[in-house]
Amino acid sequence: MTKQCDPLVSMPEPSRGPQSTGRHSRFDQQATHFDARAGVPPEAAQATTRTLRQLAALTGGNVVLDVGAGTGNVGSFVVDAGVRYIGLDVSLPMLQVFATKLTTHPALDSTALLIAADADTDWPIRSGSTAIIFFSRSVHLLHLPHVVRESLRVAHPDGAFLVIGRVRRSPESIRALLRKEMQSVLSHHGIIGRKKEELHETLMTALAAHGCHVQPPGPRTVATWTVEESPAACLEAWRGKEGLAGTPLLAPVQHAVLEELERWAHARFGDVHQLHPVPEHYELVVVEINRRA
Ligand SMILES: C[S@@+](CC[C@H](N)C(=O)[O-])C[C@H]1O[C@@H](n2cnc3c(N)ncnc32)[C@H](O)[C@@H]1O
Repeated sequence: MTKQCDPLVSMPEPSRGPQSTGRHSRFDQQATHFDARAGVPPEAAQATTRTLRQLAALTGGNVVLDVGAGTGNVGSFVVDAGVRYIGLDVSLPMLQVFATKLTTHPALDSTALLIAADADTDWPIRSGSTAIIFFSRSVHLLHLPHVVRESLRVAHPDGAFLVIGRVRRSPESIRALLRKEMQSVLSHHGIIGRKKEELHETLMTALAAHGCHVQPPGPRTVATWTVEESPAACLEAWRGKEGLAGTPLLAPVQHAVLEELERWAHARFGDVHQLHPVPEHYELVVVEINRRA
């Protein structure tokens, strides 16, 4: 899966499997149940793969760099897209789950590479080598000025795209309503949660300042599906996470916030175990990188 002295990576790689960065991530604990808890359906991954393949064909290269690749819930489909695929993630356990999906893959050694590395430090990827820099549900977790710098550095000089994949929910969905209330409870505790939408806006503004632009304007919805969600299930999932709203929290604080949220949920929804069907959408924001700007 990893190769020695790959021309695309800027450091010699060990010859077998992703190796530990020595850094622990809050995703380490989620690795074995991530797909069941937070996976997107295969149709979303397949539609994304088609788009990435089409975009790569518009560039001078064929390398797709998937930053925060995780368990390969999306990336394992991109491996089949006729491109060179590099999946980078700080969490070795997440990548190990990814690797199990590729063990029988025929093109594995020649076309796919998984690298355990912290994307908030210099990416171990050669400058100018990459056609697509892809972030599926991961860019909001990273240091954005560094994302901009490194994306511009690795982008192929003859054209490249930065693509953000994200799940969009109705603001009226149970989870969105709970998240909104969570932000308010956190603020009562003096904690400012990270808001993904604002982070995306900040990233777009920074990229625009470097001559990059969204192509075509606005996100493309590539898949829509329905999930059944209940307030109780959302709260249960958050109890199992380290931190909330992208912010690390001390365990007693997290417990207090979720207790308060649960009381609110009882008052707001009545039966917190009642399942509600809600549509979810996977959408791509495609940014054309102008490396010469
Ligand atoms: C929500 S998961 C998304 C995984 C996958 N892209 C998907 O859509 O299924 C976010 C991933 O980003 C990774 N991640 C978070 N911070 C990172 C960092 N500093 N460097 C590299 N990966 C990071 C996590 O380990 C996790 O696997």
